[in-house]
Amino acid sequence: TNDIDTIGSTLQQSLTQFITSIVTIVGIIIMMLSISPLLTLISIISLPLSIFAIRPILKRSQKHFADQQRKLGQLNGHIEEIYTGHQVVKAFGYEKKASAQFTEVNEELYKAGSKAQFISGIIMPVMFFIGNLSYVLISVVGGILVTQRSISIGDIQAFITYSKQFTQPITQTANIANIIQSTVAAAERVFELLDEEEEMKEQTTVNIKRANGAVSFEHVDFGYGEEMLIEDMNIDVLPGQTVAIVGPTGAGKTTMINLLMRFYELNGGKIMIDGLDTRNMSRNDLRKNFGMVLQDTWLFNGTIKENIAYGKNGATDEEIFAAARTAHADHFIRTLPDGYETILNEEGSNISQGQKQLLTIARAVLADPPIMILDEATSSVDTRTEVFIQKAMNRLMEGRTSFVIAHRLSTIKDADLILVMEQGKVIEKGTHSDLLRENGFYAELYNSQF
Ligand SMILES: Nc1ncnc2c1ncn2[C@@H]1O[C@H](COP(=O)(O)OP(=O)(O)OP(=O)(O)O)[C@@H](O)[C@H]1O
Ligand SMILES: [Mg+2]
Repeated sequence: TNDIDTIGSTLQQSLTQFITSIVTIVGIIIMMLSISPLLTLISIISLPLSIFAIRPILKRSQKHFADQQRKLGQLNGHIEEIYTGHQVVKAFGYEKKASAQFTEVNEELYKAGSKAQFISGIIMPVMFFIGNLSYVLISVVGGILVTQRSISIGDIQAFITYSKQFTQPITQTANIANIIQSTVAAAERVFELLDEEEEMKEQTTVNIKRANGAVSFEHVDFGYGEEMLIEDMNIDVLPGQTVAIVGPTGAGKTTMINLLMRFYELNGGKIMIDGLDTRNMSRNDLRKNFGMVLQDTWLFNGTIKENIAYGKNGATDEEIFAAARTAHADHFIRTLPDGYETILNEEGSNISQGQKQLLTIARAVLADPPIMILDEATSSVDTRTEVFIQKAMNRLMEGRTSFVIAHRLSTIKDADLILVMEQGKVIEKGTHSDLLRENGFYAELYNSQF
């Protein structure tokens, strides 16, 4: 944000000045040429001379300008981080340390800034000096020309006035060299971001409008980095089935969902929806077929109604209320002073975590996608509400393929297929009763909860 701000204000302030300068210089050169080509040559020579003189200065200070922008970014990042996490900062008594860290970065910013400004400040006097040199040269050569009577004294006077004006826009530009230099440094940082590798290009060869909901993983390999997390995963899900994914923390459950939504590209194998490779669909089409309720809820600054309506363009009030009823959110919303018009603040801290989850569930209900993903969707609601939601969910999941991730195993007993994951692998799969009979990892997990 700092960098873009810098670029923006420089363009605003300096661009007009730059254009004026160019026009002035061109006009003056024409006038000078009409008076005396020889003297014009002398005054123009000062240009490459100054460029030659200030180049090393520019080079040296540019490094510090880059430093300055980087430190400024760091400083603001630090403030933002500490400010948003101020509750934790206070709870752990971290104020002094945070403050010390601030001082440290601030000090570095100060050093980089003053060095950059100081070195860049030399540019202006250097330009001024060279400009004066050419002024003297013009006076001397002009004087000689006058004594030879090849030029009149009035012309010299006019020429000297022009040559003063000629160096003026250049000195002016030198004057704002520090601004230009920090802008260049800022632009470099912005381009660094723009030059980041793009998402893999889409090759849309199939159009999928509303899928039936058959999903299969075929020999899927994936790793966030070099190391593979998921290796050779094979799953077949029929339309309308409910698949539960269980397993310890870090097993790769969320990762599997990320792959399904194509937030990451596979390292090998393929994922098919209705028998079509997801890589051949546009990401947009693919994601339209999914409804998601995630571990961390995302609500925006707006009314509850607007937040639910996010799931569907042009939803009517009746649809919104119905969705809220399905998600068991209707009751709590109506008990709020402003009901559906309650405004959620930016951090969404004016309703509880569980209530937030209910809203995101209502949102997904309203979207009515053929495939539903529930990643720990009810982890923050109490067990009784969970049972209610469970009932609603069962109704909702009818005729819809759904992936449910849950740590409370009682909620996924009725799933058509339970996948037990550990360290990126599906170690057991089957229905609840199958898995209990197998008496393996799932049975152990299940019994430990009761
Ligand atoms: N964006 C990421 N970049 C690198 N590694 C990641 C990323 N997201 C997850 N991981 C790693 O991948 C592994 C699986 O993470 P995942 O989020 O799939 O776990 P999970 O089964 O959903 O766990 P939980 O039950 O806690 O939600 C973890 O070891 C994690 O450290
Ligand atoms: Mg997870």
